[in-house]
Order: sequence, then C-alpha cells, then structure tokens
Amino acid sequence: MIAVASDHAGITLKNEIITLLEQLGKPYLDTGATGMESTDYPVWGYRAARLVVSGECERAIVICGTGVGMSLAANKVKGIRCVVCSDCYTAKLSRMHNNTNMLALGARVVGVDLAKMIVQIWLDTPFEGGRHQKRLDMISSIEAGNEP
Ligand code: RB5
Repeated sequence: MIAVASDHAGITLKNEIITLLEQLGKPYLDTGATGMESTDYPVWGYRAARLVVSGECERAIVICGTGVGMSLAANKVKGIRCVVCSDCYTAKLSRMHNNTNMLALGARVVGVDLAKMIVQIWLDTPFEGGRHQKRLDMISSIEAGNEP
C-alpha cells in the first residue's frame, strides 16, 4: 500500500499521481488533503510518515509546492528516509543507495509527466543493500542519539 498525501498546493498533482497508481494497479491510501483551501504541510507529511513507520503502508508519496516542507516534516519521524526529488536519476539512486521510503514532489517545480516518470522509477527500483545498509544503520544510530 502506498500512502499519498498533499497540502493545498499539491492537490492537483496528487490527483494525477493517484490516476497513475490506479493505471499501474498499485494499491494506495489517499490521506488528504481534500480541498484547495490553505492547509499546513506538516500535518500531511507527518500523517503519511506515521503510516509508513507503523507498517500500514509500505511507502509514501507526499506533495506540496516545492516538496521541501513535506520532506522536512517527514524526515523528523524516526525511521523515515524521505527524498525530495525533481529528477529521475535522484529518484533511482535514492532507492538503490538510500532505500528511501518516502518521495516528496514539488507541484510548483516539476511538470505532471516528469512527476509521473519519477514516481514510476522510484516505485520500481529496489534497494541494493550491501555497503549501503551499513550507512543507513549509521543514520539510524544518529536518530538514536549517537555519533556516526
Ligand atoms: C504553500 O504555499 C507552500 O509553502 C508549501 O506547499 C510548500 O511548498 C512548503 O514547503
């Protein structure tokens, strides 16, 4: 299950991404927002992040104006590795090397077609493990209050 969330700035792109997920046959959970009225991205970023760390959703895609606010909020949740991404290379490598479990998109930054391409690559690319796992373990250690 893929959680999908946005603030008001990301609603239109969120709906496009939901259409893509439906076309790909990927189960998703739309956690809001639902309207175009101004709303606060930390609420939605946090909600999607909780769904991931609780195991209810495998990964999450979050969208705001730039993707930055959503990624900042999500990355405050222990266990979240959220990449804000506006290119296909970063989308791919963030999965291969960083095992990102959340993708943040900027609806005011990327066009719909590029966003869809980024989402497909991010969903389809597996984590490579190996030497990269050790580095992710170091990040977990930082989260636990240790020095790397
Ligand atoms: C809302 O205007 C905008 O600040 C928000 O969507 C996001 O881009 C913040 O990072």
